[in-house]
Amino acid sequence: MKRQTTGSNAKDAGKEFLNSFLDSPERLQILEQAVDSARNGIVITDPALPDNPIVYANQAFLDLSGYPIEEVLGKNCRFLQGPNRDQPELDELRTALKEGIPFIATLRNYRYNGSLFWNELSISPVRDKSGKVINYIGVQNDVTARREAERRVSEFYSMVSHELRTPMSSIRASLGLIDDGSAGDASPQVTRLVRIALQNAERLLKLVDDILDLKKIESGKLRLNTTLVDPKQLVTDAVSSLSPQAEQARVKLETDAEGQRQFLGDPHRISQVLINLISNAIKFSSPETTVSVKVEQDGRLIRFSVKDQGPGIDVADFEKLFVKFQQLDSSDTRSQMGSGLGLAISKTIVELHGGKIGLNSEKGAGSTFWFNLPMVPPD
Ligand SMILES: Cc1cc2nc3c(=O)[nH]c(=O)nc-3n(C[C@H](O)[C@H](O)[C@H](O)COP(=O)(O)O)c2cc1C
Ligand SMILES: Nc1ncnc2c1ncn2[C@@H]1O[C@H](COP(=O)(O)OP(=O)(O)O)[C@@H](O)[C@H]1O
Ligand SMILES: [Mg+2]
Repeated sequence: MKRQTTGSNAKDAGKEFLNSFLDSPERLQILEQAVDSARNGIVITDPALPDNPIVYANQAFLDLSGYPIEEVLGKNCRFLQGPNRDQPELDELRTALKEGIPFIATLRNYRYNGSLFWNELSISPVRDKSGKVINYIGVQNDVTARREAERRVSEFYSMVSHELRTPMSSIRASLGLIDDGSAGDASPQVTRLVRIALQNAERLLKLVDDILDLKKIESGKLRLNTTLVDPKQLVTDAVSSLSPQAEQARVKLETDAEGQRQFLGDPHRISQVLINLISNAIKFSSPETTVSVKVEQDGRLIRFSVKDQGPGIDVADFEKLFVKFQQLDSSDTRSQMGSGLGLAISKTIVELHGGKIGLNSEKGAGSTFWFNLPMVPPD
């Protein structure tokens, strides 16, 4: 009982303090001091004045841009953009301002001394009680150092991957020659060890290739080489390249790809998607079950699907699957190897073709991963 009284007393006292603060003449001063001392650049503009000029800029904005206050007040913020104003983000910004909605993007800006900086800008409208926009507040953050660090990390990834790829390819080729007998007879024990080494070399190469693809995607450099694709050939090749994996897992591979017409696409990339889906299906299947690969035409779409009788996936996890480095079981003890890159890369490839990727699955009832591509007929 006593405690409750103390609690509500404290609450009342808090409310009282807040009310007196809201009414107090110091309130404005405190707010101004806080905005002035913020580490982010802050500007306030007035859209009622011609060209929506800056009416307030804090010290951090002056530090970040290098401009003196007298060169800032009364001007539109675009003076930070320099002469080359060709940035797609600016169109989004104009739209956001027109519609009175918040905006966040990183813009290329220039300091007073002409040096470039990347400005992570966040703009919000400030409304009066009737909902009319009376001001805009912009918060600026110089992210140049972060961008530069990200670029270096990305280059490092590419460099390491390329440097790994060349020797790994040569290791795989040599092991392949021992494995297929081209290098002379080997004892069964040597053959067994060489096969293990070969499988692991292939896995490493696959990871390196995935990382290189991911880097290409991130820098917008993944391009399609479009030619005529024969769906049946694609499925047959993908299935035969995975039959050793299926045999080892004692999983039966079934195909149904008869009579489908040729269409335009990138055969190498589509088979990459197919191989990832089939190899996932095999990985998650129990022995003596079947994985079925099917191609069918559905109006103007061609639909590839891979069905397994594995553990299935919870609907709540569907979205996560196509995000890079996501594996549903990321524990150290998870039973299946992989990087979690395959589906993210597959999604990009399918979308570059103008298609869609997805799955039907239920926990405990197997999964069907599918992708639809628009059937672009050859001329
Ligand atoms: C509150 C506010 C802050 C802004 N801050 C910046 C900024 O820091 N850097 C920048 O390049 N543009 C900034 N802008 C955008 C420009 O002022 C302008 O809206 C933009 O260039 C698009 O309009 P324009 O085509 O008339 O130039 C800001 C806009 C507002 C409303
Ligand atoms: N057929 C499937 N059955 C069950 N889970 C699957 C299946 N395919 C994919 N997954 C889940 O999706 C995750 C991501 O797959 P993917 O992006 O290809 O990466 P990786 O195969 O390298 O793990 C897998 O780790 C697994 O958790
Ligand atoms: Mg995979």
